[in-house]
Amino acid sequence: MSLSPAPTFSPGLEGVIACETQLSFVDGRQGILLLRGYPLESFARAARFEEAAYLFWYGRRPDPTQAAEFAQRWADHRVVDADLLNQIAAAARRGMPAMDALRMGAAAVHLDAAQSQDMILGAQRITAALPTILAAYLRARDGLAPVEPRRDLGHAANFLWMLSGEEPDPAKARALETYWNTVIDHGLNASTFTARVIISTGSDLVSAVTGAIGALKGPLHGGAPGPALDMVFEIGSAENAEPFLRAKLAAGERIMGFGHRVYKVRDPRAEVLGQAARELADAGSDQALYDLAITVEETALRLLAEFKPDRKLYTNVEFYTALLLHAVGFKPDAFAPLFALGRAVGWCAHGMEQAAEGRLIRPKAHFTGTRRDWET
Ligand code: ACO
Repeated sequence: MSLSPAPTFSPGLEGVIACETQLSFVDGRQGILLLRGYPLESFARAARFEEAAYLFWYGRRPDPTQAAEFAQRWADHRVVDADLLNQIAAAARRGMPAMDALRMGAAAVHLDAAQSQDMILGAQRITAALPTILAAYLRARDGLAPVEPRRDLGHAANFLWMLSGEEPDPAKARALETYWNTVIDHGLNASTFTARVIISTGSDLVSAVTGAIGALKGPLHGGAPGPALDMVFEIGSAENAEPFLRAKLAAGERIMGFGHRVYKVRDPRAEVLGQAARELADAGSDQALYDLAITVEETALRLLAEFKPDRKLYTNVEFYTALLLHAVGFKPDAFAPLFALGRAVGWCAHGMEQAAEGRLIRPKAHFTGTRRDWET
């Protein structure tokens, strides 16, 4: 007989409302994503990532003076201790995967007294340090020394600078900003919930971001844009799209980059990232790959409607994430940590909201074991 009272149990907390938020609204039936009340499509391709971060942390859009001041103050936090960068480089040389290195680097960031007191300062510190840590890791993996951050560049452009040590291509910096704006927040996903749980104990933003990176690392959350890109490469030519995809579906296999648990229409993030990928292709990136991806998408949508007419399967965020990040110059193993760099701004905003709410998150468990006697 169970010792716990009759439970109301929702596996995976499905359908459970665990907090109130003003940060994002997701309607998967109509394909609506509001970020701080604004439709994603209205600002993702135009706003600087600095403006998006300001919007998330202060709750309002900055005017041009506020945006410029904020960008400078955020940039002040980019420098990371040389000791930590050496540890990151050593980890990269030992073959530590990128998400593990990012989690290790995040955990080692220290907030001073002012940054611990003022959550916006703390958020600036940790989110400005992450790109420096990831850039040092990616360079060390290629046997290269870190490149010092610059204060005169935006968040995205400076990251590209720290990767190559060359003047960043504005079109690629813009594409990266669009990507980060697009993934900045998405309801109470697993990593965001993790961050809120940690903050609810009275802990700090470094701990929350470190824990959230750990949650994002899992393949059920960090997603798999890599396989979507692999599939486009494997298809290889427009003529091969139909026979390849038809054979997959006939064998009962899934097509990567299509379908979503929440969105039953086209994922609005796929729309935004698809347009950004097209702009990058127009600006001279791999036009042939972009054209092939469009053919693959059109063919997949037609065949999914034929094979699964009742399932409402559309292009998801992963398909164009893969295409966009590849066009900017990233390899698939950088995709998940790049996601973390954008989502970290959302994690911090949730941390601030949770701290203001002030209630410890402490759900119950239903005990399904039995009472036993130690003496017998
Ligand atoms: N290709 C072919 N069939 C599919 C696909 C797909 N990509 N996605 C779902 N289906 C079919 C399933 O086979 C199933 O059909 P059946 O009931 O006739 O057997 C039906 O649609 C429902 O499938 P579920 O797995 O129950 O749907 P769910 O909403 O749970 O799946 C998921 C969501 C896991 C993303 C799924 O669509 C999938 O596996 N897609 C491919 C992998 C992918 O792109 N992952 C990234 C998702 S985006 C993100 O996580 C941020």
